[in-house]
Amino acid sequence: MKKVSPAKLLKSNPFVLAPMDDVTDIAFRKICEDMGASYSISELTSVDALVRDKVTLARYERGNLKVSGVQLFGNNPETFCEAADFVGDNADFIDVNFGCPSATVTGNDAGSMLLKDPKNVGEIISKLVKHLDKPVTAKIRLGYSKMTYLDVAKEVEDAGAEVLAVHGRTAKQKYTGVANWDAISEIHNGIDIPLIGNGDVRSEEDIDKYLGSHADALMIGRAAIGNPLIFEQFKHYHKTGEKLEYEDLKQRRKELFMDYLEELDKFEPYNPGLKIKRQSMWFFKGVEGVKHIRREINEGKKTIPEVLDIVKRF
Ligand SMILES: Cc1cc2nc3c(=O)[nH]c(=O)nc-3n(C[C@H](O)[C@H](O)[C@H](O)COP(=O)(O)O)c2cc1C
Repeated sequence: MKKVSPAKLLKSNPFVLAPMDDVTDIAFRKICEDMGASYSISELTSVDALVRDKVTLARYERGNLKVSGVQLFGNNPETFCEAADFVGDNADFIDVNFGCPSATVTGNDAGSMLLKDPKNVGEIISKLVKHLDKPVTAKIRLGYSKMTYLDVAKEVEDAGAEVLAVHGRTAKQKYTGVANWDAISEIHNGIDIPLIGNGDVRSEEDIDKYLGSHADALMIGRAAIGNPLIFEQFKHYHKTGEKLEYEDLKQRRKELFMDYLEELDKFEPYNPGLKIKRQSMWFFKGVEGVKHIRREINEGKKTIPEVLDIVKRF
């Protein structure tokens, strides 16, 4: 298998799609990759579910992705290694989730709960790095409730991770308030591995504010939902200093939504009803003259080819 280095990829393209549960499936990640995301990471996946139940999930498959990072959560270093073996060649690199604030995850002492004990974080990364013949990356928040980010970041670096992504909030904050980019900058100054800053990045102005000064790369989450074009726009701005505008946004969004559906049909053809309805709402958000498309898609339960027909007709 060809070796992929996330650190190297970031040097030529610093814009990464954030992992988002129930949003960034392999079809969506592929469209974002095509639009210019440097790379993407899968939705979070439980090491215990993989190892104990041997569940096969589209979320850790590589599909047609050129670069595939698979995100794992759990708390036992050995189980992480077994799960990474189970995922196998689907992953070019493994990303460890130390940020999820959800009670179902923290209740099992995983995700952001591990930020309370930086040594545990280091142990998981170090075991994986020694076990795997591929890079390991980590995604953290600033702490659980207390700020532990500097200790955690040092542990991640010393344990041999190749890249660290930081969402500038504590787990207790969930998504409230604004991301603390001063803290992200402090980490940037404190470690030598590439740092991806994350939190509230929405516009070209945010690139000016944060890229280079606060972080080596930027991770985009909510602003990319239904909007893979953001990667084309960010790349263009980064290269030229000019903003990219679209003459026919409706047409572009329609084409992208069709690409998304075709990709989804290849990898998740089963019962995708609710997912398609949500994605169609996101892809067409703020676009004028598409109410009728959304209405038709939302009527009853439809297969992917039926939805494709509706979108094509308009
Ligand atoms: C719906 C949703 C699902 C998410 N799922 C994950 C996940 O599976 N793994 C993860 O590390 N972060 C997850 N996150 C957090 C995002 O990756 C990101 O850190 C956060 O949204 C902040 O970035 P943003 O302000 O650009 O959205 C999720 C966020 C949202 C909104």
